Amino acid sequence: TVAPSAPTQLAVEDVVELLVPADQVAALTAEAATLPSVTLTDVDLQWVHVLSEGWASPLKGFMREDEYLQSLHFNCIRQPDGSLSNQSVPIVLAVDDATKEAAADAAAIALKDPSGELVAILRAPEFFEHNKEERVARSFGLTDARHPYAEIIYNSGDWLVGGDLQVLRPITYGDGLDEFRLTPRQLREEYAARGADAVFVFQLRNPIHNGHALLMTSCREQLLERGFKNPILLVHQIGGKVKGDDIPLAERIAQNKCVLAEGALDPASTILGIAPSPMLYGGPTEVQWHAKSRVNAGCQYYIVGRDPAGMAHPNGERDMFNPWHGKKVLSMAPGLEKLEILPFRVAAFDKTVNKMAFFEPSRADDFVFISGSKMRKIMREGGSPPPGFMVPSGWQVLVDYYANLS
Ligand code: ADX
Repeated sequence: TVAPSAPTQLAVEDVVELLVPADQVAALTAEAATLPSVTLTDVDLQWVHVLSEGWASPLKGFMREDEYLQSLHFNCIRQPDGSLSNQSVPIVLAVDDATKEAAADAAAIALKDPSGELVAILRAPEFFEHNKEERVARSFGLTDARHPYAEIIYNSGDWLVGGDLQVLRPITYGDGLDEFRLTPRQLREEYAARGADAVFVFQLRNPIHNGHALLMTSCREQLLERGFKNPILLVHQIGGKVKGDDIPLAERIAQNKCVLAEGALDPASTILGIAPSPMLYGGPTEVQWHAKSRVNAGCQYYIVGRDPAGMAHPNGERDMFNPWHGKKVLSMAPGLEKLEILPFRVAAFDKTVNKMAFFEPSRADDFVFISGSKMRKIMREGGSPPPGFMVPSGWQVLVDYYANLS
């Protein structure tokens, strides 16, 4: 037998969780009642969720200015031992002038969820200027306010406030999907329970078509060829806010379940999960965050294909990012050395075999590219995909979704 090639060790041994022990909650809740407070937006709460479970570990809370500057300019944060931790997207809390004035001298701030319920305490707040245009330009490579996350940033306050978080309760949504929201520690327990000797992950914000499935099954074959006996796949849907024309989380999960039920992915070696981060649509910058958060979730291999975290330019004229920069950047990214990146070619519909297959430039005319917008158009019209494009029950979930929309 061939010895499996490295890395077989978890890249990060454990994560920083920010949930306080249950026996401290009452005293902290009483203290919070005496503090100035900030009401979070939905997206802010998603970031509290991210921070609380250690997806952004070793971050201990919303970024202070030093961390923000490192993230924005270096995509990494220097650790006390001199090593670099990749952190390509700033995790920051924006507040308005009135909040800043009310909390300027406070030792701590109470954070409330959008319904006004206390969720966390932010310690030793540090306020600094929120130069939104600079943040947007450096994060996305444009300043266009029609970009979905740029819009969120432009609509937020003129100050950022950083500080360590004490989170008082687990973040749940009561939407019937919480069982898929395993924390990084719970995921590690799940790999162990399944006897994994390697864990590979597929990040997505879309339904799974057979081209996606091809990337995942090819990756599994590569790992088996290397000598692993039980590689486990984490199919990881982004759970936070997505742009308006992306398919909602509930429909994506329902569709993904069909893919497992119909056997396009092997249920025994696949975990379907939800990651709490919102989508940023930051292309090569964001894909580093997607990968880093999965390192914290104990993943060792990361699948990446065409145009990860990309979208059309808001002007509608072209892709925002070069579709191949994502995998190139990820393969070179500082602070992610312990994760092995598995880059894949583009998958398209091969008319000669009526299947999704890896594109071969030498016989380009045999292939049809079915873009997200093309797929959505066929679905909206209640049409059928080419045979072999997607499992039929999964396609039906999406046709029903569009039928109910209109
Ligand atoms: S993402 O925003 O989560 O990256 P998406 O759900 O579209 O978007 O993609 C998930 C993963 O599949 C990414 O790694 C992306 O590069 C890859 N991917 C999507 N479509 C294709 C395709 N046709 N061929 C190859 N890779 C693809």
